[in-house]
Amino acid sequence: MLRQFFLLTLSFSLSGFLIGCNTSDLFKNSLQDNQANVEPSVRTQLAFPPQQSVTNAMLTPQEVSLRLGNKNIKGMGYHQGLLGPTLIAKVGEQAQIKVQNQLKEPTNVHWHGLVVPADQDGHPEQLIAPAGSQTYSFQIKQAGGLYWYHPHPHNLTAKQAYLGLAGLFVVRDPQESALNLPVGEQEAFLVVQDKRLNGNALDYNPSQQDIMSGYLGLDILVNGQQNAQMQVKQSIYRLRILNGSNARVYNLGFNKETPFWVIGGDGGLTETPYSEKSVLLGPGERLDILADFSAHKEGSLLKLISLPFKGVTTQGQQELTLLEMQVQKGQAKFYKIPNQLAALEKISTPTGTKTRTFELQGMKMSGVDAMTEMGHGSMMMSTSGNPIMKGMHTINGKTFAMNRIDETVTAGTSEIWVFDNSKGDEIHPMHLHGAQFQIIQREGGRNSIFSHEKTRKDTVLLMPGEKVSIAIKFPDYKGKYVIHCHNLEHEDDGMMLNFELI
Ligand code: C2O
Ligand code: CU
Ligand code: CU
Repeated sequence: MLRQFFLLTLSFSLSGFLIGCNTSDLFKNSLQDNQANVEPSVRTQLAFPPQQSVTNAMLTPQEVSLRLGNKNIKGMGYHQGLLGPTLIAKVGEQAQIKVQNQLKEPTNVHWHGLVVPADQDGHPEQLIAPAGSQTYSFQIKQAGGLYWYHPHPHNLTAKQAYLGLAGLFVVRDPQESALNLPVGEQEAFLVVQDKRLNGNALDYNPSQQDIMSGYLGLDILVNGQQNAQMQVKQSIYRLRILNGSNARVYNLGFNKETPFWVIGGDGGLTETPYSEKSVLLGPGERLDILADFSAHKEGSLLKLISLPFKGVTTQGQQELTLLEMQVQKGQAKFYKIPNQLAALEKISTPTGTKTRTFELQGMKMSGVDAMTEMGHGSMMMSTSGNPIMKGMHTINGKTFAMNRIDETVTAGTSEIWVFDNSKGDEIHPMHLHGAQFQIIQREGGRNSIFSHEKTRKDTVLLMPGEKVSIAIKFPDYKGKYVIHCHNLEHEDDGMMLNFELI
């Protein structure tokens, strides 16, 4: 009785809150997202994290102080600065990565997109205590591509990643090298993240509304830098982009006519290049493009931007500048756009292939639904002392339980998994550990498979109304892995399940 009364009281205030009276965070948030992003007067030269070979690498998660624009910011990094070194591996190599936890809280590392043994995967139950260390060791048994790493301690993942714990993991592949794609100065790795630089802190303190929409900010960092500029020459560049944001989707393109071709996604190259004008990239996804700057005059400025997009009201309302590019004088190597890239082996899913459906649910953004769905949630206090509902995002009606195995899969087999967001009104980038997949179909919403999705994937973006089927080839490894939404606020809210390979 008491509990009922409590929930009822809460649902009243919560529904008022979600419907949006003027003073609610929801309103502030949507206002913020409609602001123009102001042109900065100074731009700094874009820097790239140092590279480290994966055969003998060292990561030291720690608190860091740094300067962003004219602010002194405190964040986290895998070295003395935001983010971490770019790890470089070759197919077949044995990775040996020591992680020395210098934080005051537990952490661990997940190798996003890499198929590694379950006990090396950074499952949320495998934690490294403060002052503790772990050496991760695994062999690179997959094709070249742009992968990445970040923490995975349940309930701390979103905060730690937001504060700066993330890095790139590049797998080099002889087949890819044979294609003569741009390298050196003409291959640029870009980590795109949005932050909320209110005052001088990179505070992570999500409100109820932030847990629904994800923690969105309008200060866009590339490689941990704000307002950066990259010098390019009149030639073709390979831009390898990670959306390392907690929740923001980018509709990537250029502000001035700049032809570009998608040549790959999460797990490597596509079969052929695809000429595009913009690409919608969800949190956790990677994009590999060739951009041709040769028609721009020396000295001209152009921008890598995110164009407005439709589908949700919480983001995508405005254009955002990610990076300014200045076309410079000077010799650049000439490259051709290859006609043919990789040969992709299709994951076969004959009739009778085991199919599992995952229904994605979030609390609806309306008072009535919010009230009827209250039963899912539980109460917590946020750090600011406001009550926060937990467990609003579910998969098949469930929130994450560390010791419950939700799906049992036979190692080495192929299956079809279906993510169903057809009744949802939120964005869910769904991510799978322990295996790579191919997208078979997207129904509803955007209703098609996009060019960067025509390769091996590990994360797939579901806009509201969409249902996506994927074919997965599971490895021979055995053990416990997770599947979750890569909106990190949703993930920490419990939108994650365990599956076990047996
Ligand atoms: Cu990039 Cu389980 O995460
Ligand atoms: Cu992952
Ligand atoms: Cu989600």
